[in-house]
Amino acid sequence: SIPSTSQKLHPTYPPQPPDISSSAKESDRTQTIISALNLQRHIEGGYFAELDRNPLIIPNPFLSSTSAPSNTQTADKPFSGDDSVRNASTSIYYLLTPASPQGCFHRNKGRTVHTLVEGRGRYVLIHDDEEHGEKGKKRVESFVVGKDVEKGEKSVWIVEGGKFKASYLLPMREGGKDADDRLLISETVIPGFEYSDHDFLTLDKFRDIVTEEQAEELEWLVRR
Ligand code: GUN
Repeated sequence: SIPSTSQKLHPTYPPQPPDISSSAKESDRTQTIISALNLQRHIEGGYFAELDRNPLIIPNPFLSSTSAPSNTQTADKPFSGDDSVRNASTSIYYLLTPASPQGCFHRNKGRTVHTLVEGRGRYVLIHDDEEHGEKGKKRVESFVVGKDVEKGEKSVWIVEGGKFKASYLLPMREGGKDADDRLLISETVIPGFEYSDHDFLTLDKFRDIVTEEQAEELEWLVRR
């Protein structure tokens, strides 16, 4: 049902909502990396740390956009709260682990450049910003991120703003899972990240924009 893959997209690691997984379940090696990089839990699942917030301030290019959530102020918002402007870019580390193995479907208004640091994972995109097929069903795309570029794995990948994105951890070795499996990437979003430019895919919308077959296959990546 998904054009770019032949196999079913299933969780190698059991699906886990962000709020029930805890860093206490990570291997010692993974804990060490989380501490060394000063990572925090991400609301999408996984862990992150903001590495850079470009001090260059630019006009908010999304002000006239109607396709995204309204400006929501939250306590952990690092920005001044002036919706008329944005930082030119922000960069984060993002980590998936056996205890927090998936990032649930969400979208950002900004365009994101992803670079693999280590490990393997799978990305699933729903092209909600494109016309596609009948009954409002949208194109679904999936690819593996990893270092084996000869096998078609991507080490650098771009996700345009307005597309729903989810990701999950894959074992490093085909043989099976390992407690030290991880996917560590960097992401640069342009213009810089703001919660008001971010929203999660709801289950209702998900069921509207994918086929029944795809819904069954991918529902575990929708945040509940
Ligand atoms: N704060 C919460 N999530 C994010 C994110 O994805 N990127 C940045 N830069 N900050 C965040």
